Amino acid sequence: MKKLIKQKGIKIHFQIVNYGSDLYKKSVSLREEVLRKPLGLIFTKKELELEKEHIHIAGFYGHELCATALLAPHGDELKLQRVVTKAHLQRNGIGTEMMRFCEEYASKHGYKSIFCHAREAAIPFYLKNRYVLEGEPFEEEGLQLHKMRQVRSPFRRCFASFSLKS
Ligand SMILES: CC(C)(COP(=O)(O)OP(=O)(O)OC[C@H]1O[C@@H](n2cnc3c(N)ncnc32)[C@H](O)[C@@H]1OP(=O)(O)O)[C@@H](O)C(=O)NCCC(=O)NCCS
Repeated sequence: MKKLIKQKGIKIHFQIVNYGSDLYKKSVSLREEVLRKPLGLIFTKKELELEKEHIHIAGFYGHELCATALLAPHGDELKLQRVVTKAHLQRNGIGTEMMRFCEEYASKHGYKSIFCHAREAAIPFYLKNRYVLEGEPFEEEGLQLHKMRQVRSPFRRCFASFSLKS
């Protein structure tokens, strides 16, 4: 942790929250604020229903909900979606910590990789977190998106294979 967070000495922690719980509802509000409202959109009932099967991650700055994301299983892969950090806390390393949490979840639960459909503006963030671009960009709901996939760190690969053998 750096800058403001390091100065204040407040720890960030992440947890999985249950679909439909109060923390899930707060996470939906946060991502709606950051991802959808600027486009004049909300999350529809149908979209939220589909999230029943997904893994919901919430990050806390002290007691304050500061970040959220979800992981949607696709066979032996996870699709990372709805990734946000609260606006006034961005560029403090929270998103990066959340990517580590997701990677650990994937590793522990035997998923082979994590991919996402990144918005243009978020590409530098994913590149910094060891994601690489895959294929051609495409358009969805008026946004230019790029498929990106995380390359696991050699340490985690080695650790995962050691755990499986032992
Ligand atoms: C993308 C997002 C989740 C990143 O969260 P964050 O907590 O700010 O990320 P971090 O502080 O861990 O950033 C790590 C690195 O990523 C890069 N990065 C992050 N945001 C960036 C931006 N807006 N522009 C350029 N580089 C960026 C930087 O290299 C940064 O390191 P630095 O601050 O030392 O330069 C956050 O900016 C966000 O919520 N954006 C709006 C929603 C969004 O676009 N989500 C992604 C949808 S695909």
